[in-house]
Amino acid sequence: MSTFAVVNCSELVTLSGPARPRVRAEMRDLGVIRDGVMIVRDGLITYAGVRCEIGPHIEIVDAGNRVVMPGFVDAHTHPVFAGNRADEFEQRASGITYQEISAAGGGIRSTVRKTRAATEDELFCEASRYAKWFLRGGTTTIEAKSGYGLTVDDELKMLRVIQRLGPLRTVPTFLGAHEIPDEYRGPYRDDYINLVIHEMLPAARKLAGFCDIFIEPHVFPVPDARRILLAAKEHGFKLRMHVDQLENSGGAQLAAELGAVTADHLEHTDAAGIEAMREKGVQPVLLPGSVYALGSKRYPSARAMIEAGLAVVLATDFNPGSSPTPSMPMILSLASTQMKMTPAESITAATVNAAYSLQRGGEIGSLEPGKRADFVIHDCTDHRELAYFFGIQSAQSVFIGGVHVN
Ligand code: NIG
Ligand code: FE
Repeated sequence: MSTFAVVNCSELVTLSGPARPRVRAEMRDLGVIRDGVMIVRDGLITYAGVRCEIGPHIEIVDAGNRVVMPGFVDAHTHPVFAGNRADEFEQRASGITYQEISAAGGGIRSTVRKTRAATEDELFCEASRYAKWFLRGGTTTIEAKSGYGLTVDDELKMLRVIQRLGPLRTVPTFLGAHEIPDEYRGPYRDDYINLVIHEMLPAARKLAGFCDIFIEPHVFPVPDARRILLAAKEHGFKLRMHVDQLENSGGAQLAAELGAVTADHLEHTDAAGIEAMREKGVQPVLLPGSVYALGSKRYPSARAMIEAGLAVVLATDFNPGSSPTPSMPMILSLASTQMKMTPAESITAATVNAAYSLQRGGEIGSLEPGKRADFVIHDCTDHRELAYFFGIQSAQSVFIGGVHVN
């Protein structure tokens, strides 16, 4: 039985509160305890509160008058892929757009070709490198999508890699409907949709609890998406969806209609889409890293979503194309500077709200008795510094289940 106490926290940012995601003014209340103490026993938090007497035999972790807070929960990532797309990044820097590169056969399809050619061990090796990047940034749980295999075997290969990653916690999502692969384009696209519905969904269900899809008029338009997602629901998947990233095609309304847990991106979602999500309790997952990296100015309407009472989530969208960053502090910076979220709202969106969006809110996302001791000592004394300084590595020590992992 191992017990230790974390002491000398300038701020113990507990995020304690009701057992549900936080909305409106609740997002600004981080449950900060100055000079707080946290006690951990066997990987679980037993106490998080004001300074108290610590027994003589309890090991001490001295936070050194720094901020201690829950590890970030990154609720939207694509961390398994072979190679990278630095070549396309260079092309975009010379003025070619993401959509033009994709129409010419690059983009997601170029990563699919490389990922198919890689063995499971090669992919595991690359993904393990990125998993360390997440840990170094203070992230302790990621949602992780497949979607660069686009055959039954290659999608399962990706999901197995996700399951092997650790100590970073992972929540796998099946994303077979990420793109129409090269061999099914034109007259064969319906055959691909049938392959997803009849072969991939049943096989992937053993390895993933969530199903996602890329809804855009030129990729999977709403009617195709509805067919695939209804089949996914029949197999027992919970739904997350990429919607309204490049244009508004009613994806937010479809997420509401199907009772999706989240609708992600939402750069082009309008007031009607926000209202539909509010009515059905769909959580928006905002991904400002992809807006930034694509050089777009069109950030999602975070303020309107918060004011409407939506339980906003922030995530990196880490992937080799539109958002090559695993850094949640970078996302907090973008949320404040580009979407006018306060640092406290951003931290809520990146921890407890994100945990609820993964249906793990009872276990992770806040520092409360009974939850897992997934926490980070950041090299700052005030939580606002996390969003304020940018381009630095603020996470100093990272613990998952009470184990020091970075
Ligand atoms: O969330 N938009 C679709 N999927 C990813 C991009 C994937 C890629 O470009 O490889 C996204 O932005
Ligand atoms: Fe994505």
